[in-house]
Amino acid sequence: MKVSLNNKVPVQLILGVQWGDEGKGKIVDLLGDKADVVARYQGGHNAGHTVKFDGNTFVLHLIPTGILRPDTDCVIGNGVVVHPGALLEEVAGLEKQGIKVDGRLFISRYAHLILATHPLLDRAAEASCDAKKKIGTTGRGIGPTYSDKIARRGFRAQDLLDENILRSKAEQCLEIQNRQLRDLFKQPECSLDSLLEPLLKFRDRFADSIIDATGFLQSAIDSGKQLLIEGAQGAMLDVDFGTYPFVTSSNTTSGGVSTGLGISLRNVDRIIGVVKAYTTRVGNGPFPTELTDEMGEMLRAAGGEFGATTGRPRRCGWFDAVVVRYAAQINDLDTLALTKMDVLDDLDEIRICTHYKYRGRTFSDWTSEIARWEDVEPVYETVPGWKQSLVDIRKYEDLPVAARNYVKRLEELAGVPVGLISVGPSRDATIIL
Ligand code: GDP
Ligand code: IMO
Ligand code: MG
Repeated sequence: MKVSLNNKVPVQLILGVQWGDEGKGKIVDLLGDKADVVARYQGGHNAGHTVKFDGNTFVLHLIPTGILRPDTDCVIGNGVVVHPGALLEEVAGLEKQGIKVDGRLFISRYAHLILATHPLLDRAAEASCDAKKKIGTTGRGIGPTYSDKIARRGFRAQDLLDENILRSKAEQCLEIQNRQLRDLFKQPECSLDSLLEPLLKFRDRFADSIIDATGFLQSAIDSGKQLLIEGAQGAMLDVDFGTYPFVTSSNTTSGGVSTGLGISLRNVDRIIGVVKAYTTRVGNGPFPTELTDEMGEMLRAAGGEFGATTGRPRRCGWFDAVVVRYAAQINDLDTLALTKMDVLDDLDEIRICTHYKYRGRTFSDWTSEIARWEDVEPVYETVPGWKQSLVDIRKYEDLPVAARNYVKRLEELAGVPVGLISVGPSRDATIIL
């Protein structure tokens, strides 16, 4: 059943359903116009969420996109990993662009901090393995920080608040991490001073912003406030359900909300999956519909497909309905926000992957019979393009027939209705159905 996104519900979750960079930032900004609170539940500054309005461009990495709405509070949940220096830098950048951050940004006391050693370990691990095994991480220290969290030796935001704990924890972490740097990777060690310096700077600025985020969010929900939950990365980068091991180190899917914020998923009234009208991936790993030819280059150029965090060119390919159906099921999506339709404007024909071929049989769904994403071969259907610019269209009825048919076909294949179509990067270039 179609429920318009104009019809506001108190708690909405917005997440990516492909390999990230679907346009989550734009959608969170757009639907967050009346949000009281926007919260991130996982990931770190590996994310890059771009928002454009009134001729301005903002790229958020760690701070929830709601910071761009002056009356919205922002929460970095316990499931996020926070790099102190990156957060300070991001705040400074926003302030330079005229955004007031003080008093509006809160960090869960249980959020783990990325220490100076973590990016070193991340990059050393990548450098030490052969090409086939490299994940192509953002090099931000995400994996090693989550590893330390799970190994129960991580450094949490609240550890900053007690001088004795801060120092003893820092020394304890440093000892283990230096051992890894030295013995495992033959890299120079990190000094205690360089570990402590960013932590102390961070504490000086944010000590009062470290809170019981779960309590904060639960009381916002209980008092009927509008809460938007912002995902980072996408379903196929989920540490459990993605193209493991070529994934990030967090649960990007809806289940991550409960553990990453400490609120029940029962509180979420609507789950919105952001999906590109084609597919991209940055970093290594399987990508069944990847185009390594001129068409892939054309999508990259037309879509400006270069990473918002690392500037790396994104790999491009056709829309993969098997991936989106799978993500719809894992996340229990209510609706899709379909972005970057305008990127396909000039194409004579567009291909959609409807099935996979695997060992001589075709599969419309990701099943246990297929072990590895690497081994599937996409089966396509071809539909006509619309050969017309969509960028100024604001009503569904005004879309060319071929564009409407494309949307309908994607809805049908995904098994989820499209509630929003984005036809350009700016806030207003949007059709709400
Ligand atoms: P996120 O990580 O999911 O927030 O996505 P990114 O910001 O990394 O990448 C999406 C890119 O596409 C950004 O540069 C956006 O400004 C841009 N974008 C978002 N929606 C549209 C759209 O409908 N059309 C076009 N042409 N660009 C879009
Ligand atoms: P947003 O939120 C696209 C990818 C990296 C790499 C893998 C693991 O902007 O959609 P990591 O540094 O997390 O250990 O890298 O995950 N990756 C992303 N790809 N968008 C992102 O975030 C990403 N965050 C991580 O390229 O393949
Ligand atoms: Mg991005």
